[in-house]
Amino acid sequence: MRTPLLAANWKMYKTVAEAEAFVLALLDLAEGVEVGGVEVVIAPPFTALSAVAAGVVDTGIGVAGQDLHAEAEGAFTGAISAGMLVEAGATHVIIGHSERRRLFGDTDDAVNRKTKAALAAGLIPIVCVGETLEERDGGEMPAVLTRQLRGGLDGLSAEQVGGLVVAYEPVWAIGTGRTASTAQAGEAHAHIRSTLGDAFGADAADSCRILYGGSVKPGNVRELVAEADVDGALVGGASLDPESFHQIVAGGRGAGL
Ligand code: PGA
Repeated sequence: MRTPLLAANWKMYKTVAEAEAFVLALLDLAEGVEVGGVEVVIAPPFTALSAVAAGVVDTGIGVAGQDLHAEAEGAFTGAISAGMLVEAGATHVIIGHSERRRLFGDTDDAVNRKTKAALAAGLIPIVCVGETLEERDGGEMPAVLTRQLRGGLDGLSAEQVGGLVVAYEPVWAIGTGRTASTAQAGEAHAHIRSTLGDAFGADAADSCRILYGGSVKPGNVRELVAEADVDGALVGGASLDPESFHQIVAGGRGAGL
């Protein structure tokens, strides 16, 4: 039994004040509508991590960094370490988002080092994988996902893989309004789970949660999470509004059913 997970990736949106207002609004909504049976994680910009963590204290809602540096400390201007995230109240961290890979040069090897650093600090990694449109059109989706998973998770134990989260985010579906069909998501998620099984064993593959990401909205989350291997969603644009994210959390209850 995998508990569905709904994660909000705010990217470079929201000041501290805006983040605090969002949390108050979300908690207000959550009181009115039952959203039990799912886990919720919010990934604000680094500057708003502490404020969001303080706002959700005792609610069970997790808080994620959007990236981290693999080293514990050092002369790395602009970077944030796993220990700093933990101290700020983070429970999770997003690693290898396609925007990090494309715009900041994160390689599978960097994803691997960051994932190990996150695990060592007690953070739950949310490791993102996904193919570009060109790769999909070229029939390379399975090979790309296999390479990203094998590279990103290399050297991890079965237990570590069982406890982390993989997010399948087809690059062509991120921020484009173009969502993968349920069949496309189902096929990719099944491929991810079987790749994890081959590399880390059936137990690890069974307990690892695989989220779908890419233009998830209140109107499409239910059908996506109804797919057998889709255990929740990583949501960008539609997570910025508390009402919309709350509806997505409510829709995520059907995951894995
Ligand atoms: P989107 O972003 O929901 O705005 O498409 C998803 C993501 O990048 O995590």
